[in-house]
Amino acid sequence: MRLSDDEKAMRDGRDGPAVARAMDLLIRYGEALGADALVETHNVCGTVTASTPFLRDFALKAGGLDAVYSEFNLDSAEVVPVPKVRAFSSHLQLGFDPHHPADMGVTEDVVQFYRRSEAMVSKMGVQMMNTCTPYQLGNVPTRGEHCAWMESSAVVYINSVLGARTNTEGRESTSAAMITCRIPDWGYHRDEPRRATLGVTLETPVETVEDWGLLGYWMGEWVQERVPAVRGIGSMPNLPRLKHFGAAASSSGGIELFHLVGVTPEAPTWEAAFGGAAPHELRAYGAGERAATLERINATGRDTQVDYVMLGCPHYTIEQIWEAAQLLEGRRVHANCALWIWTPRAIKDLADRNGYTAVIESAGGRILTDSCSAMSRAVPSGTKVVACDSAKQAHYLPAILGLQAWFGTTAQCVEAACTGRWHG
Ligand code: F3S
Repeated sequence: MRLSDDEKAMRDGRDGPAVARAMDLLIRYGEALGADALVETHNVCGTVTASTPFLRDFALKAGGLDAVYSEFNLDSAEVVPVPKVRAFSSHLQLGFDPHHPADMGVTEDVVQFYRRSEAMVSKMGVQMMNTCTPYQLGNVPTRGEHCAWMESSAVVYINSVLGARTNTEGRESTSAAMITCRIPDWGYHRDEPRRATLGVTLETPVETVEDWGLLGYWMGEWVQERVPAVRGIGSMPNLPRLKHFGAAASSSGGIELFHLVGVTPEAPTWEAAFGGAAPHELRAYGAGERAATLERINATGRDTQVDYVMLGCPHYTIEQIWEAAQLLEGRRVHANCALWIWTPRAIKDLADRNGYTAVIESAGGRILTDSCSAMSRAVPSGTKVVACDSAKQAHYLPAILGLQAWFGTTAQCVEAACTGRWHG
C-alpha cells in the first residue's frame, strides 16, 4: 500500500501507540480489500462503548476499559491507552436503552459498566448521539465527502440521498478512522463502483412511507449488493420516506447506494446514473410487484391479536412522532398490547418540549431511545405478535426473536395498538 509521509509517521509511532495500532489495522484491512492507498476522512460514525456482560467480564480480567478498547476497537493484543479522536465522530445506537434496563432485560451492573464506558468515549471526543440516524442530529455529510460510517441504513442514506462516500464499515475500522482520519480508498470512495448497473422503472405510484418501504424491500431482494437506478417517481419523497426506502433495501439485500433519478445528487438524469453505460438489466415495478412484496413481508403474520406495536425503525423523526401523537390523541392503547416508539434522545427531548411525549404516554404508549427492539432483542414480555411500519423491522424481528410480524402504515399500526388486533 502507498502511504504518505504523514501516514508512515503515524504507523511508526509518532502519534502514540493507539494511532500506530490503528494504522497497522487500516493497512492490513486495506490490503485485504485490494486498496492501494488510504483516503482522508473527517467524518466517522461507529460504535465504541462497551455494554455487554461479556465485555464487562473481559474488562475485569484484562485490566479495564483500555484493554477492551485495544482488543475490540483496534484489534490489538497490546493494551494501549485510549486516545482522543481526531475526526468528527458520532456514536451509533446501543444494544439497549440505558434508561429502561428492566424492560431491556439488562442488569443494573451492566448499565453501570456501560455508563463508565460512555464517560470514557465522550472524553475521547465522540459525539454520543446513540442513533442509527446521525443525519437527523446535525451530522449531515456533503456531496463527495469521504466518510467512514457503520450501520447499513445510515450508509445507504448518506451515499444515495446526500451523495457522500462511504462503505459499510465495522467497529474496528471506524475506531481506527476516528483517531487517524484515514480509511481504505476502495469501493464507494471511488467513481466507478458508484455507477448504477441495474435499472428500475416505476409503473405504480410510490407515495406513502409504506409504498417506499415496499419498493425498497422488493428492490433489495433483486439487486442484492449491486447499484440500482430508479426512474419514474411522482412526488418528491421526504426524509422519512427515503430513510425507510434505504433501510428496507439494505435489509432484504445489501444495497449501500441507489440512484433515485432527480433525488440522488449523482443522478440528475437516468443516463448520468449509469455514467453513460447501458444497464445490465432492467425491471419494472408495478402493482403486482407491490402486492407480492407486501404478502412476502407479512408471511409470518398468522394471528390477528397483536401484543406489541413497534414504531421507529430507522429511528423516528420529530415529524413522525408528531404524526403518531396526532393519531393517538384521545385514544388508549389496548390493555393486551404495548406501543413503543424508538427515537434518538435529542429528538425525545424535543418531543417532550412539544408535548408529544405527554400525548403518547397518556394514551399508554412509550418513547424509548438509544436502541431498538432488533438491536436490543427486547420486546414487551410475552410478545408473540408484533406490528410495525418498518419493512426492516418486519424483516428482522421474526428472524431474531421468532415473532410473527405484521407490516403496514403508521395509521394501521396505531389502530392495532388501540384495538389489540391487526386489521390490515
Ligand atoms: Fe435503527 Fe434498529 Fe432499525 S438500529 S435502522 S431502528 S434495526
